[in-house]
Amino acid sequence: MAIQKITGFADLFGPEADAYTFIENTAREVFARYGYTELRTPVVERTELFAKGIGEDTDVVGKEMYTFPDRRGRSLTLRPEATAGVVRAFIDSKRYQPGGVYKYYTLGPMFRYERPQKGRMRQFHQVNAECFGSPSPLADAESILMLADFLTAIGLRGLSFEINSLGCAECRPSYRGFLTEYFENLTADALCEDCRRRMATNPMRVLDCKRDSCAEATKGAPTTLQASCEGCRENFAVVKKVLEEAGLDYTVNPRLVRGLDYYKGTTFEVASTDIGSQSAVAGGGRYDGLVKLLGGPDVPGVGFACGMERLALLLAEQKAAKPDFYVAVLDEAGLQAGLLLARGLRQAGLRGEAAFEAKSMKSQMRSADKSGARHVLILGGDELAQGTVTVKNLATGEQETISMDRAAERLA
Ligand code: HAM
Repeated sequence: MAIQKITGFADLFGPEADAYTFIENTAREVFARYGYTELRTPVVERTELFAKGIGEDTDVVGKEMYTFPDRRGRSLTLRPEATAGVVRAFIDSKRYQPGGVYKYYTLGPMFRYERPQKGRMRQFHQVNAECFGSPSPLADAESILMLADFLTAIGLRGLSFEINSLGCAECRPSYRGFLTEYFENLTADALCEDCRRRMATNPMRVLDCKRDSCAEATKGAPTTLQASCEGCRENFAVVKKVLEEAGLDYTVNPRLVRGLDYYKGTTFEVASTDIGSQSAVAGGGRYDGLVKLLGGPDVPGVGFACGMERLALLLAEQKAAKPDFYVAVLDEAGLQAGLLLARGLRQAGLRGEAAFEAKSMKSQMRSADKSGARHVLILGGDELAQGTVTVKNLATGEQETISMDRAAERLA
């Protein structure tokens, strides 16, 4: 019998491999604009790097690592994520000069022994970015905005951004105290065995437990935002203000604790509702203290990683999705305006076509139908004169005339 590939590992042929190449090339292009350079680190590291860096109580270290002895009995691990290795390389390289800011991206395979399903593999691929050297919340905001630019550049939309602040070395201890007190007041069997252990070693990990019963029991637990010190509150306010001014839609999720122990301060996740239960497309945050913990200077850091499998799934899904619009025009006079209206909508992330010829309205409606578009946008004489457009929803037949400037918002 032919030898089978390992469960949770994939072969990527032609078009699928092309999607990964496209994602990687776009990452290189967008990240370079922000001053990031590439850093390729080994796929295998000493196990202690991850145990120490990611945290012994995390699912990743406790349950999911590919760990094995080498021929001389040293414990090695296939990297489950990129950050710890990037930090190790940064420390090894002795590049750090006080006051300097260093930005690196890493692309490649990671390994976690999880239960495979759509969007969750045991060998998966990350686009990872790290910025060392700045404690400023502006670095957090820049990291989130670069992630947003990257996701837009690969053509994804309909993503939700969630942010939180996890507290710092100053306010974390009192938060741990509040949490422990809350857990101690629960009934003895409210938490699973793992969580009862974590309660003492690492109470914040209890909030990340995947069991429904633990999630239910911790619903009313105090949040880090309730316990934030003034510094954390001020930093978080700056991050939120910059994102707002940049026009990035986000929600604050006080329950967003992330699955790795190194986070402090701002954390964030990006999710999509289009790819099933494995909806987290990207995650990241600030990890001040990690470089020092791993034996380097006390250099702050912030970064994120996106899962390429999930990005590729979304790209395939959205490619197969129906276009948003078809622009139909009543006569020749509308053709150019129609083309420019379509361009504006495409720049806003929408997909669709504009007629090149002013054929009969019946024929254009047929083309719209054939394209599968959700809306037809009609530009007639009145609309052109008034800077408006008539939007017809092809599913419901409803139509309304709105200002052209509002078309993107209306269709989204
Ligand atoms: P993470 O949230 O563990 O963060 O992973 C980041 C992304 O990798 C997830 O949002 C998901 O898209 C993808 N991912 C994780 N596990 C799998 C899997 N088994 N199969 C497919 N995709 C997966 C980190 O790894 C941090 N190192 C991110 C970071 C960088 N924080 C600061 N710098």
